[in-house]
Amino acid sequence: MKGMTVQPNEITDSKREVAVLGLGAMGTALATGFLRAGHPTTVWNRTRQRGEGLVKLGAAPADSVDEAVVAAGLVVVSLLDASAVFEVLNQVPQLEGRTVINLTSTTPEQAERISTAVIERGGSAVIGAVMVTPPMVATDDAVVLYSGDRSAFDEHRATLAALGGEATWVGDEPGAASLLDLAMLDLFYGSVTAFIHAVALARVKGMSAGEFLPFAQRMFDLAALTATELAEDVDSLRYPGDENNLAMMLRSAEHLVEVSIAEELDPAVPETTRRLMQAAVDAGHAGEGYGRIIKHLHAPPPQIDG
Ligand SMILES: NC(=O)c1ccc[n+]([C@@H]2O[C@H](COP(=O)([O-])OP(=O)(O)OC[C@H]3O[C@@H](n4cnc5c(N)ncnc54)[C@H](OP(=O)(O)O)[C@@H]3O)[C@@H](O)[C@H]2O)c1
Repeated sequence: MKGMTVQPNEITDSKREVAVLGLGAMGTALATGFLRAGHPTTVWNRTRQRGEGLVKLGAAPADSVDEAVVAAGLVVVSLLDASAVFEVLNQVPQLEGRTVINLTSTTPEQAERISTAVIERGGSAVIGAVMVTPPMVATDDAVVLYSGDRSAFDEHRATLAALGGEATWVGDEPGAASLLDLAMLDLFYGSVTAFIHAVALARVKGMSAGEFLPFAQRMFDLAALTATELAEDVDSLRYPGDENNLAMMLRSAEHLVEVSIAEELDPAVPETTRRLMQAAVDAGHAGEGYGRIIKHLHAPPPQIDG
């Protein structure tokens, strides 16, 4: 951290004031990014000591949420969850002339309610999602999604550049960034859970996770290629099964469930795949391709015991 303190002569008129509410791992990384870029940065955290490192870097500590909000036109919020955001917003009756950028991860519905709460207080609301870990913030690899009030986003775009990488506009619906964030997490969690299940299966005959890794990487490459084709199929509502069809793939999914049970592994991951394929086959789509299962995601889910 040595040498990162922002010197007063680095602060120019073009460097707008920013307030950061919430100094957990992510809030600290965001505030550090603004400080490094030369923005006068006021910081507030429920547990004040957590901001001490940032104060050493040149941040101004605020004693209250209100004091932080008064200090800057751009207020960036990074808290644990939506209820923490509401708790904090309830401490500021007035946000006139302020743009609040919520970077707390929420559901789209919570994002809508946060946006409404900001607007009701006279502020402009942008709802974003940080798609990287704290050490990647303010580097070229950072990806931050934004949605909501486009003109407020445009007004602060140059300041948001301090967070690095790509500032990606997703749409005017306040929940758009949260939804995309969740869709990407869906893909990530699904992939890594499938990987871990596959590792457990490979280990049955003594293969280590490291030995399995190159095989797994080939399948990740294949999945990426397949995703391109599936996206075309889903968008065109055509699911050609000329090269591989659901009836054939269902057999492999059945084998996966069978071997998981036989080896006393939780079959939930392959069973979800099998169930969706079976539903498509039962509905008369045995000869179609994998993308056809998207129709069956909208069916009522099975009862989950316990
Ligand atoms: N860390 C990551 O890798 C990562 C990546 C992408 C997105 N995010 C998102 O970034 C957000 C912050 O994550 P984080 O990693 O910084 O979490 P964290 O380190 O656990 O920090 C949580 C922050 O929320 C504050 N907080 C919790 N409840 C509060 C309340 N009721 N009132 C006021 N403040 C409250 C905490 O204050 P105290 O210090 O007083 O407890 C702390 O500042 C989350 O929405 C997370 O999903 C995180």
